[in-house]
Amino acid sequence: MRPATLIINLQHLAWNYHLLQKHAGETNIMAVVKANAYGHGLLPIANTLYQEGCRNFAVTDAYEGETLRSEIPQDSNIVLFSGVFDAEDAALCQKYALTPVIALPEQLTLLHCAGFTGKLWLKVDTGMSRIGATSPQTLIKQIPPSMRLAGMMSHLACADEPKHALNQQQIKQFKTLQQTIQAPAYSLFNSAGLIAFAQHINTDIARPGLALYGIEPIASKALGLKPIMQLRSQVMQIRDIQKGETVSYGATWSAPQDMRIAIVALGYADGLPRLLSNQGQAWIHGQLLPIVGRVCMDYCMLAINQHHVQVGDEVVFFGYHDGQPSANHVATQCQTISYELFTQIPSRVPRTYVKE
Ligand SMILES: Cc1ncc(COP(=O)(O)O)c(C=O)c1O
Repeated sequence: MRPATLIINLQHLAWNYHLLQKHAGETNIMAVVKANAYGHGLLPIANTLYQEGCRNFAVTDAYEGETLRSEIPQDSNIVLFSGVFDAEDAALCQKYALTPVIALPEQLTLLHCAGFTGKLWLKVDTGMSRIGATSPQTLIKQIPPSMRLAGMMSHLACADEPKHALNQQQIKQFKTLQQTIQAPAYSLFNSAGLIAFAQHINTDIARPGLALYGIEPIASKALGLKPIMQLRSQVMQIRDIQKGETVSYGATWSAPQDMRIAIVALGYADGLPRLLSNQGQAWIHGQLLPIVGRVCMDYCMLAINQHHVQVGDEVVFFGYHDGQPSANHVATQCQTISYELFTQIPSRVPRTYVKE
């Protein structure tokens, strides 16, 4: 079996959940486990959170909702952030007691035709200009009597930049909506919003995703979250190369002197961004070693020089132990965000769950 592995630390996940719940106080946590729990694996993540007391989960669509319901009992809400797209989705909502988030009248029609008699959330746009009702008062009147409103939510566009003027505009607009639209619950905050703005407005449910996975959404307001993911593989071969010899596709790197390189079984088809070619680093025995040459589909190469490295040694590309590159650091190097890094790790990389 290829040694490329994603290690997920469930103990750190539990820590993060309790830390966020403590920070949220009276506000409940809806754990955002959409997109396969941001690549961490839907069921193990949701099961751990359930065991820790979480009873509200958010996924993207009915397909993810159906999968989650296979393990999460009906004492928990499974909310579909993208609501329903077709009649089949609407039927799944009824069958598995899923709670769609509604932004469009057409979604209500689909649910009505499927005989849906459950709860739903209303999604209102307050300034992000993404999907969301622009006239919530009208939409709310169209909810058939057989369905129940569970709450009203909106989403901040710039929560991770607390000083951005749009935050206060959106909060103000949401407060006005709270006064005009009667709903059993209100929800506005993602991870960053919960950390930066929870004291600015009373809401009932916060919807953190990233923070559960141990990334501090706002560095200057760090809570003490613990990263939970480690991407690692092993050294397959050690090669001695001579000054001037080139490494990998395109011969973009040549050895400045006689040296040793390690060939590692991890490539861009394992989620290692190709942008790390000639600029990333990997961790072996506490040392950070540079990636040399282009990252290939299944392999990459490290310059090991005088370091003592052997075939079979463990190589960490990002992780949660001291000194290992953080996912955030790697994402920044690749001009992206940790959300993208996490969700790009394909299923061919097996997930291993630990409690250490
Ligand atoms: C509507 C909504 N709420 C909450 C979240 C969770 O955001 P975060 O992972 O930044 O906490 C997302 C994520 O994209 C979202 O789309």
